[in-house]
Amino acid sequence: MLDLTETFKSFPVLETERLRLREIVPQDAADVFAIFSDPAVVAGHGRPPFTEMDEAHELIAWYAAAFQEKQAVRWAITRLGEDKLLGTSGFHHIAARHHRAEIGYELASAEWRQGIMSEAVRCVVQFGLAQMGFHRIEANVDPDNTASANLLRKVGFTEDGYLRERFYDNGRFVDDWFFSILATEINQIK
Ligand SMILES: CC(C)(COP(=O)(O)OP(=O)(O)OC[C@H]1O[C@@H](n2cnc3c(N)ncnc32)[C@H](O)[C@@H]1OP(=O)(O)O)[C@@H](O)C(=O)NCCC(=O)NCCS
Repeated sequence: MLDLTETFKSFPVLETERLRLREIVPQDAADVFAIFSDPAVVAGHGRPPFTEMDEAHELIAWYAAAFQEKQAVRWAITRLGEDKLLGTSGFHHIAARHHRAEIGYELASAEWRQGIMSEAVRCVVQFGLAQMGFHRIEANVDPDNTASANLLRKVGFTEDGYLRERFYDNGRFVDDWFFSILATEINQIK
């Protein structure tokens, strides 16, 4: 069983060249709502857009509770020196017994194509493999989500394959496309 006590003692703040990754707090609700109510963003998650601010508060509360229960860690992505939440990334479906977790991410559409998410994901994956001690980090992607698949490849993930028609999203069954990176591949993070 992977011992995650250290990671979950206090929320880990991470920094990259341009970004600061910190805990998501209730004051981020307006930024979270703006992102999750944008149909272009949530299309990648296969979820309906948020329509009520309460949904943003509930999501933030869920992340806080999941951190307390050592089930998930989700960072707010901000620019260094600015506190505005531009997007989020982190681990959920943590399977300590199998040393495995799933990564997720989404970014405000106004910020797309500036290399922000690849910079954040690179840092989160490095932390997950080197500090948290995961052996495998996986991502599952809707096959229509080329942006996400390309991002994963760019960062150094390998395509595992498809599970056929695994989800029912927006009135259709969709394949589930798996990518992963292993601790033994940490040097291939780009
Ligand atoms: C996927 C997403 C996070 C990418 O964020 P981003 O900051 O724009 O990504 P980056 O600028 O770091 O791009 C990294 C690579 O991803 C690929 N990529 C990003 N956006 C792309 C697009 N619209 N079309 C094709 N490839 C794209 C490119 O290969 C890019 O590298 P390049 O710029 O050198 O060509 C963003 O589009 C998003 O939030 N989408 C909606 C939410 C979502 O799909 N989440 C993932 C669910 S699995």
